[in-house]
Formats: sequence, C-alpha cells, structure tokens
Amino acid sequence: MLQEKVIVITGASSGIGEATALLLAEQKTKLVLMARRDDRMKVLAEKILEMGSEAMVVKVDLVKRDEVAAAFRSVFDQWGRVDVLINNAGLMPVSYLDKLKIDEWDRMIDVNLKGLLYCIAGVLPGMKAQGGGHIVNISSVAGRRVWPGFAVYNATKFGVTALSEAMRMELTPTMNIKVTVVEPGAVATELTQTITDTDILESFAKRTGMVPLNPDDIARAIKYAITQPDSVNVSEVLVMPRTQM
Ligand SMILES: NC(=O)c1ccc[n+]([C@@H]2O[C@H](COP(=O)([O-])OP(=O)(O)OC[C@H]3O[C@@H](n4cnc5c(N)ncnc54)[C@H](OP(=O)(O)O)[C@@H]3O)[C@@H](O)[C@H]2O)c1
Repeated sequence: MLQEKVIVITGASSGIGEATALLLAEQKTKLVLMARRDDRMKVLAEKILEMGSEAMVVKVDLVKRDEVAAAFRSVFDQWGRVDVLINNAGLMPVSYLDKLKIDEWDRMIDVNLKGLLYCIAGVLPGMKAQGGGHIVNISSVAGRRVWPGFAVYNATKFGVTALSEAMRMELTPTMNIKVTVVEPGAVATELTQTITDTDILESFAKRTGMVPLNPDDIARAIKYAITQPDSVNVSEVLVMPRTQM
C-alpha cells in the first residue's frame, strides 16, 4: 500500500521522525528526510537504502520560509509528487511565563506553528494538482490539555490541533487530501533537551512512576493513519503511555 509512495518527514534527524522513517522504510517507500542536522540524516539514509527503500536528505531550517519553499521544490523536481507529508518537527523549551524567555517563545511559534504552515504551503499546490495526498500533523496531548509552565508550547499545539481539523474540513472532501493529527503523550526522545528553566527541570526530575512511550509507538500510529482504505480519513489519534495521567 505504501510502496513507491513519496513521504516527506520533517524532524527526521531524531526521535519520532527518525523512528517513523525506519518503520516506513520497511515498505519500499521513497522517503524525504528534512531537518537541520544532515550528518544524522545521512546515517539514517544509509540504513534506509540498506532496507530497500529510497531516501533523499534535505537540510532545511523550518524557520526560514524561502529555504522551506526551495526544499519542497527540490522534492517535486526529484520525484514529481509528494504522497504524504508528516509534519513532525518541533521543540519544547517549556518555562514559567514570568521567566520571560521570549526568544524561546518565538522559537516555538516559529517552528511548531509557522514552520509547519510553510511545509503545508510546500505540498498543497502539488497535492491538489496530483489529485490527492495525506498530511499528518504531529500535535501533542499538550494540544488538548494545559499545564503551568507549558503555556506557549500548549498554545502552539492547541494551534496545530485546531488547524488540523480546519484543514480536514477544507481539504479532504473536495481535494482528496486527507488530514490526520497525531497527539502523543510523553515519548522518550531528545525533546526535553532544549529546556533551560531550572524550575521546570527540577519538577520533571521529581516525577515518578510514569514510563514514557518509545518513538516507535508513535511511528506505528502514523503508519496506521496513512494505510487506511481510500474512503477512510483517520482524523485524530491520541496515544498515551499507560502510566501517564
Ligand atoms: N517527545 C514527546 O514527549 C512528545 C510528546 C508529544 C508531541 N511531541 C512532538 O513530536 C514531535 C517530534 O519530537 P520528538 O519528541 O521526536 O523530539 P526530537 O527528537 O527533539 O525531534 C525534534 C525534531 O525537530 C527538528 N527541528 C527542530 N527545530 C527545527 C528547525 N528549526 N528546522 C528543522 N527541523 C527542526 C529536529 O531536527 P534538527 O535539530 O536536526 O533540525 C528534530 O529532528 C514534535 O513536534 C514534538 O512537539 C513529542
């Protein structure tokens, strides 16, 4: 079902994006890996080739609108189409508002929301012209629930969840572009490494009893969403660790 499909994964250099690339590489796909750390994506691309799929590495900073547009042009030049876009790149430098970490607020809005929109702009004309496609946006349980310290991250992920439902209504019935939002609970990745607020880090260190998901657990949810029959649109998938409240 996924054979020969061109699948773009943003944030493919680590975590959920990397795990998704490896899972989808089992299906003889054409994978486009997008992120900034191209050294890591090149190593991943080697593994994908060994698995019998194809891989294209595109180094791109999603904050830069022109760079993103050029990245997607290069994909259409190379493979002529994009069947699936997995909008996964994101960061989570959470902090209490009174710390005024305004640069970190900006960065979350720039990548989690604006970067994701630039990628949608990168595929939309092509998907429309080719008669369909599938866009998977990675939001979060933080797109459904709020916590102190998560305000700006919450705002970006609530934005992604709302955007996804509006996209589904606009794009799915008339343009045959399916839209799915995937909302992971806690997953063991590098995501917390950008946190600089020591009070947040201390509160995380005190958490006990919660075993996070593996990135593979989310990769399987993404695969489920993109392998349904033509008539089915999986709109929303919330995946929680069994031990997370
Ligand atoms: N881990 C969790 O608990 C969890 C829970 C819910 C939702 N999520 C969401 O899942 C997604 C993936 O995160 P992850 O957990 O897999 O964390 P991760 O391992 O830190 O991956 C984040 C990815 O985003 C990319 N990225 C960040 N800034 C970028 C930029 N300016 N331009 C291009 N790429 C950029 C990173 O690549 P480079 O640094 O190489 O550019 C990296 O590949 C995120 O949207 C996150 O919000 C994660």
